[in-house]
Amino acid sequence: MVITLSVIKADVGGYVGHASMHPDLMDEGERHCASAKQEGLLIDYKVMRCGDDLELIMTHEQGVDNDHIHKMAWETFEDCADVARKLKLYGAGQDLIADAFSGNVRGMGPGLAEMEIEERPSEPVIVFMADKTSAGAWNQPLYKMFSDPFNTSGLVIAPGMHEGFSFEVQDVVDHKKITFNSPEEIYDLLMFIGAPSRYTVKAVYSRNTGQVAAVSSTERLSLIAGKYVGKDDPVCIVRCQGAFPAVGEVLEPFAMPQLVEGWMRGSHHGPLMPTCFAKCNPSRFDGPPRVIAAGFQLADGKLVGPLDMFDDPSFDMTREWANQIGEYLRRHGPFEPHRLSLHELEYTTMPAIMAKLQERWQSM
Ligand code: F6R
Ligand code: MG
Ligand code: MG
Repeated sequence: MVITLSVIKADVGGYVGHASMHPDLMDEGERHCASAKQEGLLIDYKVMRCGDDLELIMTHEQGVDNDHIHKMAWETFEDCADVARKLKLYGAGQDLIADAFSGNVRGMGPGLAEMEIEERPSEPVIVFMADKTSAGAWNQPLYKMFSDPFNTSGLVIAPGMHEGFSFEVQDVVDHKKITFNSPEEIYDLLMFIGAPSRYTVKAVYSRNTGQVAAVSSTERLSLIAGKYVGKDDPVCIVRCQGAFPAVGEVLEPFAMPQLVEGWMRGSHHGPLMPTCFAKCNPSRFDGPPRVIAAGFQLADGKLVGPLDMFDDPSFDMTREWANQIGEYLRRHGPFEPHRLSLHELEYTTMPAIMAKLQERWQSM
């Protein structure tokens, strides 16, 4: 059976501040998705949240970039934003940058990851959702999952994975894309994806079967809006087992709390902390950045799950480590490298301060 898995997300209002989500927004999301399922547009859905981001996880037979699915998601976000406005939640409608829906949510504010797949006899997938960080945060984990034999022993041991994977990389500034083959082109690949604020891994494909293995959201809110309007808080879908890395190999990169951009005002580097669903409420200095992992088995498009994959004491050490890194970085206060570099702050407060002080700078 060919099905499409779509994850479309937006921050439509925070509770309290940018920390978490009010249950009424989830209820509104549930109401919309339930009626779309009843109408036959969706096969199944799960309404989730990561920090202050509303996540619509949907299965259907309409393919990717389908205007009916995107319209349904957009209208859901709009109505959730109305609920947020009534409760005077913080930043109601924050990510809905466009005024009206125009056929596709891409470029309108929400983030999205979609894949059309032939469902295997057993189809385990993991949906990763992050808060207080940017598109590009998946570069390092995806590289480790699909290219690093120290992370994924299957690359060496499993015949179905031995041919490696190919990476579709997007240049989000110049709107170009390129595909690299792993393992033979990993040095070229790393040259680009090691700079995740510009080059993001959009998708990964099996070179053995040609099947899509992973898809991520690459929308950069600041580039869409031309100014700082909150962080992208990206999502990523990864297929597991068989010709793909095992569930444990897909989760393993997150045992290292990599430094990502985001955190307070989207303007700081901080460790990406994996948490269980319930503990994904970034509060210390609006962070540190979080990631949750929802595991599903697909059954004729039905989403059997989610299993809360980071609800496991074996990630306790990672969380402790992330807290130590976070504490160390916090002591730097407004100094780099805790604060992002000037170049990366060009869409935030820097232009206004520069403009204000322009007259006072003297040549020397
Ligand atoms: C980061 C984030 C928060 C806000 C901060 C200021 O992604 O959402 O750290 O940037 O709380 O929020 P505003 O500017 O809305 O007062
Ligand atoms: Mg927010
Ligand atoms: Mg958020």
